[in-house]
Amino acid sequence: MAVLKIILTLAIALISWPILNLLKYYIEARSVGLPIAISPIGFTNPILIIFQKSLIPFFKSLPFGLGDWNVYSGFGSIFANRYRLHAKHGPAYLVVTPNEIVFFVDDAELAEEILSKRKDLIKSDALNKALNLFGTNVVTNNGDDWARHRRITTPPFNERNSNNIWKVSLAQTTGMLQSWTSEGKNGVTKTAKDTMTLALHVLIAGGLGKSYSFSGGVATLAEGHTMSYRDALKIILLKLTPAVILGSLPPIPSFILTKKMKEINLAVREFRSHMNQMIEEERVRVDKLDSEKDNLLTALVRASNAASQGKERSGLSHDEIMGNLFMYNVAGHDTTANTICYAIYLLAAETDYQDWLREEIGSVFQGNDTVETWEYEKAFPKLKRCLALMYETLRLYPPVVFIPRYTGTRSVTLKLKGKEHTLPPKTDVIVSVGSLNTTPKLWGTDSMSFRPDRWISQTGGSKIIEHEELKPIPTGFFPWSVGPRSCPGKKFAQVEFVAVIAHLFRKHRVKAVMEPGETMEAVKKRLFDVIEDSALEVTIKMNHPEKVQLVWEEQA
Ligand code: HEM
Ligand SMILES: *[C@@H]1O[C@H](CO)[C@@H](O)[C@H](O)[C@H]1NC(C)=O
Repeated sequence: MAVLKIILTLAIALISWPILNLLKYYIEARSVGLPIAISPIGFTNPILIIFQKSLIPFFKSLPFGLGDWNVYSGFGSIFANRYRLHAKHGPAYLVVTPNEIVFFVDDAELAEEILSKRKDLIKSDALNKALNLFGTNVVTNNGDDWARHRRITTPPFNERNSNNIWKVSLAQTTGMLQSWTSEGKNGVTKTAKDTMTLALHVLIAGGLGKSYSFSGGVATLAEGHTMSYRDALKIILLKLTPAVILGSLPPIPSFILTKKMKEINLAVREFRSHMNQMIEEERVRVDKLDSEKDNLLTALVRASNAASQGKERSGLSHDEIMGNLFMYNVAGHDTTANTICYAIYLLAAETDYQDWLREEIGSVFQGNDTVETWEYEKAFPKLKRCLALMYETLRLYPPVVFIPRYTGTRSVTLKLKGKEHTLPPKTDVIVSVGSLNTTPKLWGTDSMSFRPDRWISQTGGSKIIEHEELKPIPTGFFPWSVGPRSCPGKKFAQVEFVAVIAHLFRKHRVKAVMEPGETMEAVKKRLFDVIEDSALEVTIKMNHPEKVQLVWEEQA
């Protein structure tokens, strides 16, 4: 009898604990004075994160609307819903779960204010856990530590580097295009994979001072390794949450681990060893180098030396060096690679925009037939349609679909349309980039359409391409964020994207292989379906880019 009583009490406690928490958070959230939605599962619930692709469809299929709350749950929902939830609840609303209160904003002014307050609205440890896999870094720190990481790691990414990024991007594209055209009429299904390799090579050359050819480099197995640099990083990126969970467990005998788990553990070990090797190689060279020309790797090694000499303000610990090296590898290639990949698929669907781009590229480069003669300073500022394509791609498929902040130990008061609202401590504050980027409030009735020319205006009356300008960026469009913590790689990414696109579309066209009897309309729809079938995996990615074959042909 007594045993039964204990079991029952425990069962009731287990069920009621989340309910009591939900109630507590609900009462707190009421005091904010904004609309509230409820999700019975917390946002960082590891089961939800790992199984979201199968769980969300399951919740959706429940009868009587029992699973309707699924639209609020998980950060992936910000991409899936775009502007719809804010259209329903207004520019700011709260979601209450058993684990947290989450405050969502798509008001342009309030969003920019939130991003300007780096001291009141910080990065939360709960959301950062995954990104700290190898050590804390510039993305995950707050306060003075953040300032130290930012001061040490960002100078190598300034304008001085742009010329180099331009050249490396062009050279990598030559290799990628050769591999694509050589597939002929069969087309390629590896666009996503190849753009990742290209962007990783550009990052490693631009940020770490190592150059590789497109077909070799990070994809090949280096001596003393059982997994290549690229593959190790790719596996970690696709399985970041399981990697972190596995890493936090006490050592597990390997016969219990599944094949996938062993692969994740190996990837983490191998990537750590690749990074250690790079750092040790750089340590030998660093004293002979001019600090004015530091790349990220040199800057990190100097910071490691400073730390060992007790200079705390300019130093980084070994874990912090590993943390930043990993973080820049991730932030510096995954984002740009996906933007290039989405742009290619969108152009394969809307082929007229390829001619629109080619018109500009031709007018900028005239008779400069070999890309080796293309000059960054001369060409980049003129390639406005190419940059407009980047903005439009980032608008619809932003790699960073939400920007997370946290109130921490104190409450924070914010003003929305002149009225004050006080957020309780430990509230997640989420800038809904995915909503801001698609809301008809900012973009009009065709906000969901891909229209890169929406960014271009004609000046001087006549329809001459040289008279075109990029329109001013509207308040509320910040794919690289704004304020003190905005992206230090913005220009890097722009130079890379524009160089790759200008090279690809100067003389070539891309189209999808059509199925027997398929109409142009049908193939376009098939492409858009593949593009829209995207999900949040650290950044936004297509689930099945390999479902379409893309053919690259030289333009007659
Ligand atoms: C299209 C490409 C890119 C996009 C859309 C993008 C977007 C962003 C966004 C939205 C943030 C703010 C995140 C937050 O506050 O939570 C950010 C931060 C950051 N990005 Fe990028 N990024 C891109 C490329 C790059 C590149 C090429 C690099 C490195 C070379 C880079 C390095 C970083 C770093 C280190 C931070 C953290 C800054 C801080 O917290 O102080 N990003 N990026
Ligand atoms: C074209 O090439 C010439 C040198 O061959 C160079 O001076 C010029 O800047 C190039 N134009 C562009 C737009 O890159």
